[in-house]
Amino acid sequence: MKDMKVAPSLLSANFADLKSDLEKINQSEADWLHLDIMDGVFVPNISFGFPVLKYVAELSQKPLDVHLMIVQPEKFIPEVKALGAMMMNVHYEACPHLHRVIQQIKEAGMKAGVTLNPATPVAMLEDIIMDVDMVLLMSVNPGFGGQKFIPNTFKKIAQLREMITRCQASALIEVDGGVNVQNAPLLKKAGADVLVAGSSVFRAPDMGEAIHQLKNAE
Ligand code: DX5
Ligand code: ZN
Repeated sequence: MKDMKVAPSLLSANFADLKSDLEKINQSEADWLHLDIMDGVFVPNISFGFPVLKYVAELSQKPLDVHLMIVQPEKFIPEVKALGAMMMNVHYEACPHLHRVIQQIKEAGMKAGVTLNPATPVAMLEDIIMDVDMVLLMSVNPGFGGQKFIPNTFKKIAQLREMITRCQASALIEVDGGVNVQNAPLLKKAGADVLVAGSSVFRAPDMGEAIHQLKNAE
């Protein structure tokens, strides 16, 4: 079976000791580092911004998977690029001109991801699936770490996998919210390629072991 990618979400890290948490992630089997940027408008919370992420980017040895939970994310393409981000994910619900934003992200030299809130149907991606490098399915309502996984996500992963196969698209499927060692094998079976995990990694007694278990979920 194909290898599962794991992207720990820094949102659940100890912000007073980010360096030590980042070192643990660097030493782990994590594939990417997931960074959640919130604006208090698109989602009812504010996380961290670019002045903080500049230092995070300097310390991280993992490719950066940036998840923008903000209105008008296209305004910040240069800032995300300046971090050296590998992937920039924007929300479908925040982009009336999604096709243009996706092209702009790619023109900036990054991979482009589109994110769906739990209530947005996968079918909305039919006319953009060939253009995106990844679809990020939210399995909680965005804005907070530590929420409960929404089981309807399994159906959405299967529908998305069917669309990708039918269109011969190459987009990866990433799942974000409430991911843990219990649901990871089921997410893999449903067709997920990348798992984002915040609290299940950062609150585990051994972070490296938690990441190892998610990666090897069967
Ligand atoms: C939620 C964020 C997630 C969050 C996941 O808005 O997009 O990346 O950090 O945290 P857990 O894994 O704790 O649900
Ligand atoms: Zn996220």
